[in-house]
Amino acid sequence: MIRFADRKLDRNAPCWCGSGKKYKNCHEAFDEKIREFELQGHEVPDHSLIKTQAQIQGIRDSAKINIAVLDEVASKIRVGMSTEEIDEIVYRTTVAAGAIPAPLHYEGFPKSVCTSIGPEVCHGIPSDDRFLTDGSIVNVDCSTIYKGFFSDSSRMFCIGDVSEENRRLVQVTKECVEIGIRNVIPWTFLGDMGDKVHQHAIENGYTVVREIGGHGCGLAFHEDPYVSYVSTPGTEMLMVPGMVFTIEPMVNMGSDAIYQDAENGWTIYTEDGKASAQWEVQVLVTDTGCEVLAH
Ligand code: MF3
Ligand code: CO
Repeated sequence: MIRFADRKLDRNAPCWCGSGKKYKNCHEAFDEKIREFELQGHEVPDHSLIKTQAQIQGIRDSAKINIAVLDEVASKIRVGMSTEEIDEIVYRTTVAAGAIPAPLHYEGFPKSVCTSIGPEVCHGIPSDDRFLTDGSIVNVDCSTIYKGFFSDSSRMFCIGDVSEENRRLVQVTKECVEIGIRNVIPWTFLGDMGDKVHQHAIENGYTVVREIGGHGCGLAFHEDPYVSYVSTPGTEMLMVPGMVFTIEPMVNMGSDAIYQDAENGWTIYTEDGKASAQWEVQVLVTDTGCEVLAH
């Protein structure tokens, strides 16, 4: 791959961002700024990770459907419901909006949504013999494809009478995402943001899953960069306006050790059987911070 620093673009040619303006009057100074970070040895985004205005609008429209699907789940979810019923709500609502549930058949995933209960960290598969019992906490992770644009967000639901201990896990994990959102600051690093998320979890006595994190998302389900929440400040990719990625820390009550279901090849569990929680938002980096696209 050609390094950013070595590229020479025609200053009078139309800008790569699709604005129709000449490069010298559009993204030239922006590219120069990125180049300086790259020369300092930092990981920087390729132009392919910086969305055009038209792409951003497409992702926004997809995200609106994703939010509406989760709102529909929120209005229907209750004690005694099977996770299969959640899957049916997601499928029906998504298709009614003219969209496609992104998980369905994704790398062989058999359902339209992930439903992860208690010690299930993520990628729980909906099933008609899995029920939401009184006191359980469940993550519902929705992803939508609309006109070729991808959106991705997830929420936790407290079912019936949830213990104080589990409620606190759900609440602190939500705060972790809010802190992540506040730390999406252009021209700082993903590692700065991820570390802030991690610190909040640790301060509350929890751990954060290391092996799975967030990702770029918009033109494909999973794009670069990988977004860690156990990162070091000043490392990982530079955040610049126009990037779109998810903030989705998985926070464990006990140890951060996890394992994968050997039979279904998907579901991830905590090694110690203690609860795990996750909230996920999809954000667009702006000139001043970020815009939450999906939540
Ligand atoms: N939001 C989840 C992720 O980004 C959705 C996974 S869907 C699955 O990993 F099909 F991969 F399970
Ligand atoms: Co995701």
